[in-house]
Amino acid sequence: MSKLNILLLGSGGRESALAWKISQSQRTAKLFIAPGNGGTDAYGINVDLSPLDFDGIRKFVADNDIDMIVVGNEDPLVAGIYDYFADDKVLVAGPSKAGAALEGSKDFAKQFMVRHGIPTARYESFTASTLDEGYRFLETLRPPYVLKADGLAAGKGVLIIDNLDEAKKSLAEMLGGMFGASSATVVIEEFLSGIECSVFVLTDGEGGYRILPVAKDYKRIGEGDTGLNTGGMGAVSPVPFADATFMDKVEKRIILPTVNGLKEEGIVYRGFIFLGLINVGGEPMVIEYNVRMGDPETEVVMPRIASDIVDLLEGAAKGKLGDIPAEQDPRTAVTVMAVSGGYPGSYAKGLEITGNLNPEQSILFHAGTRRDAEGRLLTSGGRVIAATSYGESIADALAKSYEAINAINFDGKYFRRDIGRDLMA
Ligand code: AMP
Ligand code: GLY
Repeated sequence: MSKLNILLLGSGGRESALAWKISQSQRTAKLFIAPGNGGTDAYGINVDLSPLDFDGIRKFVADNDIDMIVVGNEDPLVAGIYDYFADDKVLVAGPSKAGAALEGSKDFAKQFMVRHGIPTARYESFTASTLDEGYRFLETLRPPYVLKADGLAAGKGVLIIDNLDEAKKSLAEMLGGMFGASSATVVIEEFLSGIECSVFVLTDGEGGYRILPVAKDYKRIGEGDTGLNTGGMGAVSPVPFADATFMDKVEKRIILPTVNGLKEEGIVYRGFIFLGLINVGGEPMVIEYNVRMGDPETEVVMPRIASDIVDLLEGAAKGKLGDIPAEQDPRTAVTVMAVSGGYPGSYAKGLEITGNLNPEQSILFHAGTRRDAEGRLLTSGGRVIAATSYGESIADALAKSYEAINAINFDGKYFRRDIGRDLMA
């Protein structure tokens, strides 16, 4: 059995969960996390390197005999990290820059779906020079109106507006630079009504793929899914409505045409595909593609993968998933995110985190945390720590996660108390 030195890029709760899982593999020799956070040093060695500093990463790879780079967040993928290392010996688990456009450009993603007959909302794209056509298209739709900045906008680029005049005004503002260059093109699409879930696929780009555990995340800051959008306030896996019948449709109508479509178009893709799906009366439709794992979904998906993640990542990165298994743990996993008061608006940083940081019944995945020179744990972001627990049911797992979140303290700590409630019969 060969062992790998692995460099994981990123610093959030997602990377904590990836690091946790990678560190359990017999295949891992050394694990480095760049830059990591105040919790990832429990699973490997934090390295003070930006995931976008490709030259710095190349030097680190050479100096430390790194065999595989695992990319947690989308920015390096959209910036072309796969292509940068294409002629190097080091493996990269992730899509090429062309593949990353599935997340980096919503217009590209919609065109791809149309080319391959993948179910998604009807849409058209507009730029400043076609603003009037944009107004006309809005007039053909029924409210609410869905306006999306084409490019990456840190999760803020989607507006859902009830009123036609306001939608027109927002279209003009977006095209006028509301999200900078990201909204130079705007996708307008039909509103779909249903319940959402996140389906994760790992593909080797050669037609091989594995479907990973399905999760549902809770995006809004307020209970009952109200208030501003956040990165995600909690997650649950499995998702009861994503049953065998639904997943069969997902595989046939969405996953197969996506994986085969990428291959047919010659787009190199050796990594995770994140399908943001909506269940419209039992029929799955694609809301969005992402080219990485979700956060906080990873905090429940990794704990539910029973197989070796390094075997899977290496298989994908080599273009040879073959018969490497991706077995699922039958237990339910939930995660609850503790955030800083004020998030997703402005919030304080550098608040000391105290309490029980090693709960017996839960795993704490650090997100926005760091250690100071004295080793104290401080907040360093809006989403601070996710508490993941296993259970026989959603309610059982949640009780443990809430206990774990209640046992940690920092000024202004906030969390949603209704994670998973919509899924409990
Ligand atoms: P996106 O960044 O594309 O995932 O959009 C952010 C959120 O907006 C999604 O998670 C959905 O809740 C919502 N959304 C996006 N597109 C639609 C749509 N066509 N119909 C209904 N809701 C949507
Ligand atoms: N939780 C949604 C995302 O990672 O984009």
